[in-house]
Amino acid sequence: MTPPNTAQAGTPAYDIDAIRADFPILGRTMHDKPLAFLDSAASAQKPHQVIDAVSAVYETEYANVHRGLYQISEAVTARYEGTRETIRQFINAAHTHEIIYTRNGTESINLVAYSFGRNFLEEGDEVIITELEHHANIVPWQMLRDEKGIVLKVAPITDDGELIMSAFEELLGPKTKLVAVAHMSNVMGTILPIEDIIRRAHAVGAKVLLDGCQSVTHIPVDVQALGCDFYVFSGHKLYGPSGIGVLYGREELLNAMPPFMGGGDMISSVTFEKSTWAKLPHKFEAGTPAIAQAIGLGAAIDYVNGIGLDAIGAHEADLLNYATQKLSSVEGLRIIGTAPNKASVVSFTLDYAHPHDIATIIDRAGVAVRAGHHCAQPLMARMDVPATVRASIGLYNNRSDIDALVAALGDVQELFG
Ligand code: ALA
Repeated sequence: MTPPNTAQAGTPAYDIDAIRADFPILGRTMHDKPLAFLDSAASAQKPHQVIDAVSAVYETEYANVHRGLYQISEAVTARYEGTRETIRQFINAAHTHEIIYTRNGTESINLVAYSFGRNFLEEGDEVIITELEHHANIVPWQMLRDEKGIVLKVAPITDDGELIMSAFEELLGPKTKLVAVAHMSNVMGTILPIEDIIRRAHAVGAKVLLDGCQSVTHIPVDVQALGCDFYVFSGHKLYGPSGIGVLYGREELLNAMPPFMGGGDMISSVTFEKSTWAKLPHKFEAGTPAIAQAIGLGAAIDYVNGIGLDAIGAHEADLLNYATQKLSSVEGLRIIGTAPNKASVVSFTLDYAHPHDIATIIDRAGVAVRAGHHCAQPLMARMDVPATVRASIGLYNNRSDIDALVAALGDVQELFG
């Protein structure tokens, strides 16, 4: 949806020092240096509001949900189900029962591949992804291809990391049944033109799954305005706990889809001859769920809403510009992913050191980045690099974090340059 605004350079969109004080881990050191945490795209740190919400569940009202006829079970069930409404409002779904709790974004995509893919796609039907997907949005479709004989098509990107819309359009046709694309690249930060993608996919009768694992933390999303059919994200990148994710699906699709896993809580009745299914959303939620984690995700969304995604987007856009400028002046540094519409991620290589060596050396200076293929090996091949260093920006980062990164790259240059 709306790309992040660029704040007036250097003007904080909010009180960054107050925000940083909410994140206990940012007060610690790494190798006796202040921690410059630049790996939020892998998993974000948690504010005390989330940590406290999770602790409070275990300290004051932990019990299983949907099963207890006693006060604390009813109380925790109300909070767990209330969080579904918080999530509904956050992405503006039409109905609370369109919000399915999963373990993470990966499980959400697998749920769609198993339940929708194995029941509504036939041999020869086509699924389109793009060259910039991470493995979570590649492998489930390959497994479906190998089992059902569907055709997996890959839309190409430019050297800057942008989708080539004309090539994507050429792949669309009467056999296209699903388009599954990242809203934002986890490696390059590219924001995809999802409105156009959805419009063109729907024009040929295809459904659209948006992988919002990266974008949900940076860009306001309105699934009704977008008109996407599925939208997935993880809690742990959104400043919430790990072990909780979300699948949004349109009611009519979720109603038509069979369960993904069988067990307790997803049934209406069970005999040895036959079982019948619970209504949405519980049809897709077998077994005891991640109770405290879901409530923690609700606290994380409240926290993000308290700052505002527009303000977060503006702050991060300013930092991304700053980081891009500073890094561009480092000798031998090549930025991988230079699309004009990008957010919060800068990947790069140095022509005299391997990304793993770079990450190991700058760790000694307190700088935490991810180095490697970022769960996107086909994208590494496309960009003709074995790996990159990726610095990713969260709502709590500041210019000192970027300065620490750039200074630490000087240590790398001294050793290898
Ligand atoms: N997809 C996560 C990342 O980009 C794990 O690091």
